[in-house]
Amino acid sequence: MTKLLEVNNLHTRFKVRNGYLYAVNGVSFTLDKGEMLGVVGESGCGKSVSMMSLIRLLPPAAQITQGEVLLEGKDLAKASASEINMVRGSKVGMIFQDPMTSLNPFMKIGAQLCEGIIYHKKMSRADAMKQAAKYLDLVGISNSEHRLHEYPHQLSGGMRQRVMIAMALLGEPELVIADEPTTALDVTIQAQIVELVKELREKLNMSIIWITHDLSLLAGMVDRIMVMYGGSVVEEAPLDEIYKSPRHPYTIGLLKSIPSIKTEAGSRLPSIAGAPPNLFVEPQSCPFAARCAYRKERCTKEIPPLEPVSGAGANPHHRIACWVDVTKEPAEPKEGGML
Ligand SMILES: Nc1ncnc2c1ncn2[C@@H]1O[C@H](COP(=O)(O)OP(=O)(O)OP(=O)(O)O)[C@@H](O)[C@H]1O
Ligand SMILES: [Mg+2]
Repeated sequence: MTKLLEVNNLHTRFKVRNGYLYAVNGVSFTLDKGEMLGVVGESGCGKSVSMMSLIRLLPPAAQITQGEVLLEGKDLAKASASEINMVRGSKVGMIFQDPMTSLNPFMKIGAQLCEGIIYHKKMSRADAMKQAAKYLDLVGISNSEHRLHEYPHQLSGGMRQRVMIAMALLGEPELVIADEPTTALDVTIQAQIVELVKELREKLNMSIIWITHDLSLLAGMVDRIMVMYGGSVVEEAPLDEIYKSPRHPYTIGLLKSIPSIKTEAGSRLPSIAGAPPNLFVEPQSCPFAARCAYRKERCTKEIPPLEPVSGAGANPHHRIACWVDVTKEPAEPKEGGML
């Protein structure tokens, strides 16, 4: 496998009124060509900010204070504004949650789709329109020639999301970042979009980062899962490994909160007690310690590094940031929070 992306110790913070909000605190991961990575974690844990930091698509209050983002060896954290612009338009495509905030309601679909490739690929308008129609076909929009002349409000929500996908793929990027692309859609359309992305990935051999707070959505879709908490990666492993043997107490809690076929109707699912960490102070210890049933003294004093799990038969691609071995230590109710 060839490596496409390598992110090392990425830190992003926001300047706020009385100091800083530490949104991303030392995120590191790699992505191979053609690989699909799922990024999961509760609201506010830094999924969007860390992935938008890769291509520096951040609001003015944000600062990347440390880290490297190597795309095919080139560090995007240090690239010039025009270089990063080129990367966004041609090497990296993005799909966002709400197509209506990303599509211009006053512009016809065709013109919006073509803008990027006319600029980045120096295509003629006629060729760009042909390419746009081809991609609308690819994402399953029939009568594509006609659709190019319609406005976003003339399409259904599911179709608008397909247009967004076509727009992200049109420049034939090597990497697609999909940030909760199906959250606003109903479940049947959500399932169709997931199927479509799987198909397109096979066809075009793209690498995909799929951000979601819904761990169950990633089953059968991604190769690997990265779990985030409090601006850090707490666990990372191949898909099956995460479901079969989660090793970080936060991941264990997340998995328990997914309903299964055995869950009795009307019964309450366990939730993770306690509140998310205070991001207004720079973390000095494990971000999950306050809510953790396995907490030890060390957890409240030192940040655990993300390292391969130990033990006989351990999967070498399974990494956790935790001072405790949950396979050996019992979970105990702790003051301030428990699983
Ligand atoms: N423009 C901003 N100014 C200040 N803080 C921000 C800004 N954008 C995000 N944050 C903060 O950064 C942290 C990480 O936010 P982020 O959007 O990455 O979360 P997320 O994991 O994507 O959550 P969600 O699942 O709700 O999309 C949060 O605490 C959030 O409040
Ligand atoms: Mg988000």
